[in-house]
Amino acid sequence: MTDQTRRTFLQQAALGTAAMLAYPPSTVLGANDRVRVGMIGVGDRGNDLLGQVKSVSNVEIVAMADVYSRRRDHVKGRVPDIQTSDDYRRLLDMKDIDGVIVASPLHTHARHFVDTLAAGKDLYAEKTMTWSIPEAEKCLAAATGSGRVVQIGLQYQSSGSLTDAKQWIRDGWIGKVAQVESWMSRNTPHGKGQWVREVPSDCTADKVNWSGFLNGRSDRPFDPFKLINWRLFWEFSGGNCAENMVHQIAWIMTALDLPEPSAAYMSGGVFSEKDGREVPDTIAVTLDFPKDIVVTWQSTFSNKHYGLGDRILGSDGTCEHHFDEALEYWPEKTNRPEGESMKGKTHDQDHMKNWVECIRSRGTPNAPAEIGYRSAIAVHMANLSYRSNKRITLEEAKASTPEFS
Ligand SMILES: NC(=O)c1ccc[n+]([C@@H]2O[C@H](COP(=O)([O-])OP(=O)(O)OC[C@H]3O[C@@H](n4cnc5c(N)ncnc54)[C@H](O)[C@@H]3O)[C@@H](O)[C@H]2O)c1
Repeated sequence: MTDQTRRTFLQQAALGTAAMLAYPPSTVLGANDRVRVGMIGVGDRGNDLLGQVKSVSNVEIVAMADVYSRRRDHVKGRVPDIQTSDDYRRLLDMKDIDGVIVASPLHTHARHFVDTLAAGKDLYAEKTMTWSIPEAEKCLAAATGSGRVVQIGLQYQSSGSLTDAKQWIRDGWIGKVAQVESWMSRNTPHGKGQWVREVPSDCTADKVNWSGFLNGRSDRPFDPFKLINWRLFWEFSGGNCAENMVHQIAWIMTALDLPEPSAAYMSGGVFSEKDGREVPDTIAVTLDFPKDIVVTWQSTFSNKHYGLGDRILGSDGTCEHHFDEALEYWPEKTNRPEGESMKGKTHDQDHMKNWVECIRSRGTPNAPAEIGYRSAIAVHMANLSYRSNKRITLEEAKASTPEFS
């Protein structure tokens, strides 16, 4: 769209004609049009995503909002003309932004999600979609029927391995699946805690919009450690289920077309990283699904020998998935005596590019709000089970009230 047509459009939109109301701003972009992007929360992940979106052709990054001045200064070094603010609402007020990338801490996701859609903008929202189940309901409702393009940062939804797994399952090579095993493991040098980040010396109260970060959590004096290390505390985080299980469970749910779990049980604890964190470093989750399938996910921060993977165990074959590697298949000789082992061949798609292309085409991206929702429910059920020290059903989880709001 030229600046002239963009202006004309905005004028028409301001007039509020029925036709224009049916086609809010970004839906009028043509195939060759520039997509203007804003970003909310540009820390570690936000900087990765900035690099990714910069590499998609005909995208302009026009603005970013972050509560911490160091992050704004850093991004200005990468995108000199960018407009910056410590308040995301200023960014959402900007009429010339088509899509917003949100990579803020988990406890702020729902607010940024809902307000971005309410501002009529398309959205790339980092996982986990929300911090709680009520927030997940709210975000799904906001996305449904909004006409906005929503991509959740579950990039393995764009992986070739997922396409291959779905095809092999459809082709009947796996057979009846009753169990899926998945695991994620890391290690850290002695004396250093997984996820712990050093607090920069300029992280002082005058450089941070602290109430913006708190996002309605109880007011308290500025705490730089929590700002930087929010992942370690339940008030802001969902622990490793929200950080990592979510990727794997979304992949498994999509491969096997699973609904939300019917029940969850999670055990574990802070066993290796005794540094004052609240979220467990050692985890065993069991998720029951209505289709007679049980999925387990284990994680540790004190041994990485087996890395990260998923195994779909079927009566006719086994499918093994390691992120960033081709999918592997082995037949079960009991039921497929002539079957051959094989490797997946489908290439990954660029998840960010998929979002931008959908902004132009108004198509549905690979990780829409619906899989964001289902995977978030699984995460929250696991955490609710751990925190209440009992198996929890879907109904109990949905009826429970979050501890912080
Ligand atoms: N998809 C993936 O593979 C992947 C990988 C890493 C992280 N993530 C997700 O990305 C998100 C961010 O993680 P991170 O490691 O970059 O955290 P981070 O702490 O490095 O970055 C978060 C940024 O948000 C800013 N911020 C905090 N509150 C804000 C607010 N109210 N408004 C605007 N900015 C605010 C912080 O100052 C910081 O710069 C998390 O949800 C995380 O789970 C996804």
